Amino acid sequence: MSLKGNLVLSYQLARSAHFTVQQLSLPLFESLLTGSNRFRKADSPELTKKLLQELFQILKKDSENIAAGIYPVEVLKPENPKDHFLRYPRILWDGFFISRRRSKQKSKEFNRQAQEFLNEMPEYFRRNFHFQTDGYLSPASAELYDHQVDILFSGAADAMRRLMIPLLRRTELETSGQGLSFLEVGAGTGRLTRFMGLSFPKAKIVATDLSHPYLKKAQVLLQSNPRVDFAQAPAEDLPYKNETFDLTYSCFLFHELPLDIRRQVLAEAFRVLKPGGYFSFVDSVQRSEAQEKSNLLDQFPVDFHEPFYKNYILHPMEDLIKEQGFEIVSSHSGFFAKAVLARKKA
Ligand SMILES: C[S@@+](CC[C@H](N)C(=O)[O-])C[C@H]1O[C@@H](n2cnc3c(N)ncnc32)[C@H](O)[C@@H]1O
Repeated sequence: MSLKGNLVLSYQLARSAHFTVQQLSLPLFESLLTGSNRFRKADSPELTKKLLQELFQILKKDSENIAAGIYPVEVLKPENPKDHFLRYPRILWDGFFISRRRSKQKSKEFNRQAQEFLNEMPEYFRRNFHFQTDGYLSPASAELYDHQVDILFSGAADAMRRLMIPLLRRTELETSGQGLSFLEVGAGTGRLTRFMGLSFPKAKIVATDLSHPYLKKAQVLLQSNPRVDFAQAPAEDLPYKNETFDLTYSCFLFHELPLDIRRQVLAEAFRVLKPGGYFSFVDSVQRSEAQEKSNLLDQFPVDFHEPFYKNYILHPMEDLIKEQGFEIVSSHSGFFAKAVLARKKA
């Protein structure tokens, strides 16, 4: 690897170690607070070794991609350290409530502010996904979300999100994004939106999500990019005309949807794409491609309230995508995620 690649990798490994320490501190804090043992049963040594290797591999590949200019080094820009360290005690405190919800299997607890959004949301969405406080429906939840996801994946969440970009680079899509129109569904707080904006700086991007507070957070993150617009919209019922976009994509959305909604989202993606347009997503690996992780995949929805995940891992996304008339172009995976690229025939 080049010197630049090695420097980038060193930074990413340090960042990953930092989030792993935070991951370990959560059960420790809770044990100190409650006196009970909150540590998860350790994985087998073979599985632990494999996961560490995969974590290293995805960070290495991501660093190589940066060194090769597949996406710019700005994707790694760290957040303000003060914001990060002031949020950490809130993450510890929230971890305690998440754990309490988990042990009581409570998944429909919302504060008054979040309840105001509930009525306009589809039934399957009205829950504390991940047992997180207020689900996706409060500014406080939006403030903690990215940090919590990075803790969960030992600092590799962004590298997983970026798995999509090398697939797009191998297409004829203009590298600057000039003249291109992208639609992101389930954009959340805008992490991938930002990476796409940096990778395709002249593309116009519309970032959509059901959650108003998450979109607000995304707007703050992307305020310096005038080419990104935001809209609150369900991915299964998009307010756009047929054949509008060159690319439609999502990240970590499909595993949170019931099967019929997954199908509707894909049908909508197909409808709003121009002929020859691309569809891409990043999401969890599925059962058939991750047999050695099957215990972890089974445990994840129990520990993190993901009621549609079990069904998600059993129905290969590639089959659902083809059902809608797309052709699969390429795919690859890394750590716990896979990225797939498909195309609507020209
Ligand atoms: C796991 S988060 C992923 C967010 C973001 N893409 C990321 O990479 O972190 C799932 C997101 O999908 C949104 N979402 C869930 N169901 C949706 C739907 N039917 N239509 C639009 N957004 C949806 C949620 O509000 C949330 O922001």
